[in-house]
Amino acid sequence: MCGQTADFFMLELIERLRRERTLSPDEFRALLNGCDVSSLVAANKEAREVAQSVFGNKIYIRGLIEIGNRCRNDCYYCGIRRSNVRIERYRLDKETILACCREGYGKGFRTFVLQGGEESESADDAMTDLIQEIRKEFPDAAVTLSLGEKPTASYERFFRAGADRYLLRHETRNREHYRFLHPEAMSLDNRLRCLGDLKRIGFQTGTGIMVGSPGQTVENLVEDILFMEEFRPHMIGIGPFLPHRDTPFAQCHAGSLAKTLLLISVFRLMHPRALIPATTALATHSPEGRELGILAGANVVMPNLSPAGERGKYSLYDRKVSTGAEAAEGLRLLERSLERIGYVIDYSRGDSPLTTDR
Ligand code: 5AD
Repeated sequence: MCGQTADFFMLELIERLRRERTLSPDEFRALLNGCDVSSLVAANKEAREVAQSVFGNKIYIRGLIEIGNRCRNDCYYCGIRRSNVRIERYRLDKETILACCREGYGKGFRTFVLQGGEESESADDAMTDLIQEIRKEFPDAAVTLSLGEKPTASYERFFRAGADRYLLRHETRNREHYRFLHPEAMSLDNRLRCLGDLKRIGFQTGTGIMVGSPGQTVENLVEDILFMEEFRPHMIGIGPFLPHRDTPFAQCHAGSLAKTLLLISVFRLMHPRALIPATTALATHSPEGRELGILAGANVVMPNLSPAGERGKYSLYDRKVSTGAEAAEGLRLLERSLERIGYVIDYSRGDSPLTTDR
């Protein structure tokens, strides 16, 4: 096929994806395999228009508080995996977390994302108490959790305590690939059980993948796309895989920027109302990553609100950025960088438009 024909075919696929919000598995495969620079530009433009038709030129912000890096899991890609003895472990206490929230609230944040390594259920009481405290002190702010896999009862407790949203990427919908990324003790079935629980309980639920994770094939990405089409997440987290030096995947290549941007656009075209962040991994991958993510259809950024002294320890991957526009202290910088591409920060809670108030 000559270049021009391929382009025309790609454009046709992208336009139809926008119109019908889906394609056949073969067509998704063709889109992921055949997308050249000019089709990527077209996909980003279509996706951006769709995002703007729902959210205007507004970008929601979330204050990300990395509450601790102790983790019982041993995911091969992640720098805070249990086997990594080369990082200093920490856990923020309640007062420190509340102080982060106060600082964030003062700056205008109305969503706090509590993210941490996966701890045992013995940490549930403290977490429930923390959620209640945040709710009490900041009744008009949303609480998002990103704490990994838990028993159904723990999720129910967190929801009753007042948490609104939960982020749990499925990482991959393919069983063999899941096994390649995670040790035997973890299972795709449990991950999917958790996601089902979260949605049923009433959380605005986020899922997602790393683009270019070791062993990932185009076929796997098609499976992820079809899974998310069926699951209909409120939030979709997409970032490139980035290696961490103290993991078994230290020597693997980072995921590609182009493919990450294409997938953001594919998900935006399929899920016009989803909340899709321009992730820290994307901003770490490339100096323009955040802006390119927004121009590809993302509508959320999550500046780091953790105590500056602890940020280095939450090292999911090498060189993770946590300063400048990626930091809560850098909101002005973020504002200016958004302004340059025609966007403004929306300081509201920014709930998923897929959910009615509870
Ligand atoms: N590169 C990119 N993203 C990563 N995550 C964990 N490790 C890495 C890495 N090396 C992502 C996972 C997880 C989220 C909290 O961070 O997708 O769900």
